[in-house]
Amino acid sequence: MRVLVVGGGGREHALVWKLAQSRHVTDLYCAPGNAGIGKLAECINIKPTDIAGLANFAAAQKIDLTVIGPEAPLIAGIVDRFEARGLPAFGPATDPARIEGSKAFAKELMVRYGIPTAAYELCSDPQTAHDTIRRWFADPQRTRRGLVVKADGLAAGKGVTVSSTEQEAHEAVEIMMVQKAYGAAGDRVLIEERLVGEEVSIMAITDGECVVALPPSQDHKRALDNDEGPNTGGMGAYSPVPIVPDDIADQALDLVLRPAIDAIRDLGIPYKGVLYAGLIVTDDGIKTLEFNCRFGDPETQAVLPLLESDLVEIMDACINGRLDDVEVACSTDASVCVVAASGGYPGDYETGKLIEGLERASQSEGCVVFHAGTREVNGQFLTDGGRVLGVTATGPDLAQAASRAYAGLRHITFDGMHYRTDIAGRALRS
Ligand code: AMP
Ligand code: GLY
Repeated sequence: MRVLVVGGGGREHALVWKLAQSRHVTDLYCAPGNAGIGKLAECINIKPTDIAGLANFAAAQKIDLTVIGPEAPLIAGIVDRFEARGLPAFGPATDPARIEGSKAFAKELMVRYGIPTAAYELCSDPQTAHDTIRRWFADPQRTRRGLVVKADGLAAGKGVTVSSTEQEAHEAVEIMMVQKAYGAAGDRVLIEERLVGEEVSIMAITDGECVVALPPSQDHKRALDNDEGPNTGGMGAYSPVPIVPDDIADQALDLVLRPAIDAIRDLGIPYKGVLYAGLIVTDDGIKTLEFNCRFGDPETQAVLPLLESDLVEIMDACINGRLDDVEVACSTDASVCVVAASGGYPGDYETGKLIEGLERASQSEGCVVFHAGTREVNGQFLTDGGRVLGVTATGPDLAQAASRAYAGLRHITFDGMHYRTDIAGRALRS
């Protein structure tokens, strides 16, 4: 089969790496890819949002399977456009992808179908939002812990402000709704109850009927150790997550994922692809923080190395509505992915720094290096983004996986490189 992966980050490197192992794959392409992906697939210089360009490429190259990494093309309708041209694509159509594209849509669906989530109010103008915040803060029961202001639309992961004080919440409304920091994404905001607990990500694969959960994982969103510093795209992830209940995947399937897939099917177009549930385990049970219509980043870099089955067979079965017929087997090993970022990230950073030690890192026991922001110039690897790469290691338990991942990462150097030293740390201490 001729396979195309859309995207060029660490998640897409992990997808390409796993797809390259499939006995069905003869040719592998990635648009636009990165320097690491370029060792496994032919990188094509087409942007993930250039849907017409991608469809033309897939048609001309007779691509049998296109796998879409990022959310933007999914929400913009890439799968619908591919299907209209008879090109098989893995991911949800634009209508079901609204579960990530609009937080208001996701919330309405959750409330209507009894999927556990935080209490919220949807506000369509700043005045209503400010009034809602004042009203919530006047109720001590409700806002003991503060509240969360969320832009309704896609804001590149930045549209969520967890506010401890009333003033912070009002400021978030000004930034989103008045200053329009995230453009039209902030036309409407959700004011949401702040929940407290351990977060866990469950990625499920579905053909619209059958739903299979991959091993649970946990992201580390803050830039610095001990969850300090600003939010990032994710500084590392690990799997499994022993600090949440053992049956978390079953709970997620029963209470969140299957009800959401059924709800979307009831609305008209079945959900096919990956549905990612961002959950929080509260004293009151699991609650859903968010849905994503795609694989998580960096969770995918931690989880895919645990998948034993052929990913092409799974994706093909999803597209053809027969996921029931294939086995999705995962190893019981543990996996830890540590991300190395450019100096200054998530703020301003420089690129073009020479990366050394990649070869030794990938030869380190249990390790695989997934590139994110890298490019190759004259045989040398240079930094080319905020998150530069991640080292994933597997091992018989989390302690060994973590120690292997850090041993691998210590071979790598580039000017300004920084990484968290405590990925999986809470799980290891518990
Ligand atoms: P979201 O994009 O909705 O997942 O939000 C991003 C991050 O904000 C989550 O991973 C949580 O860390 C935090 N967050 C979102 N909603 C809440 C909430 N209701 N209570 C506490 N933290 C939240
Ligand atoms: N790791 C969170 C996300 O992929 O959105």
